[in-house]
Amino acid sequence: MNIQYLFLIDAIYIKNSPVIKNYKILEKISERRIHQQVQRIAKDISDEYQNKEPILIGVLNGVFVFFADLVREISIPLKIDFVRLASYGSKNVSSGDVLLTKDIELSIEGRPVIIVEDIVDTGLTLAYLVRHIKKRGPESVKICALINKLQRREKEMEIDYWGFEIKEGFIVGYGLDYNEEFRCLPYILSLEIED
Ligand code: IMP
Repeated sequence: MNIQYLFLIDAIYIKNSPVIKNYKILEKISERRIHQQVQRIAKDISDEYQNKEPILIGVLNGVFVFFADLVREISIPLKIDFVRLASYGSKNVSSGDVLLTKDIELSIEGRPVIIVEDIVDTGLTLAYLVRHIKKRGPESVKICALINKLQRREKEMEIDYWGFEIKEGFIVGYGLDYNEEFRCLPYILSLEIED
């Protein structure tokens, strides 16, 4: 199937959405490319955390697909936990006012932790979360994000493991939403959206 045909299918799918009226598809990241990056990140983590049993903390909701794929590719023992954060801002820009609506339940004191995010955009949510997690006394904290979106970064955050760098657009699919839609697309689209 050629790429133009795939774009046509995506265009029809999004056109039927009640939440997006005017948009342009800027980029598509296929399931194959996502899988390759997930495998690479999983190998790096498996190599670096031999005999350490890291605790992977996923940031809900957007991370659910990436997290499930990643932990199944990692070949060493690990534990998982989740946080959920609400960010107050306009519908596609984080304001930095973050509210923790679900906290971790495991003890992470003295343990190596990897925070797993779907996307880092301004970096404000992650900066808040890293401060919160460090208060619990982990041995170390590393960051893993499927997408590193650089254009609107406000807080310099070092991302230790990342899959894709994207400069522009609003990203949907593979867990990521626009107004709670498109999370179940198996691939990623970068959209230019006009409200
Ligand atoms: P922040 O701007 O780095 O604080 O991003 C906070 C959160 O906003 C992310 O964890 C995502 O849930 C959401 N977000 C940021 N950019 C996008 C995007 O392009 N698509 C979907 N969600 C996004």
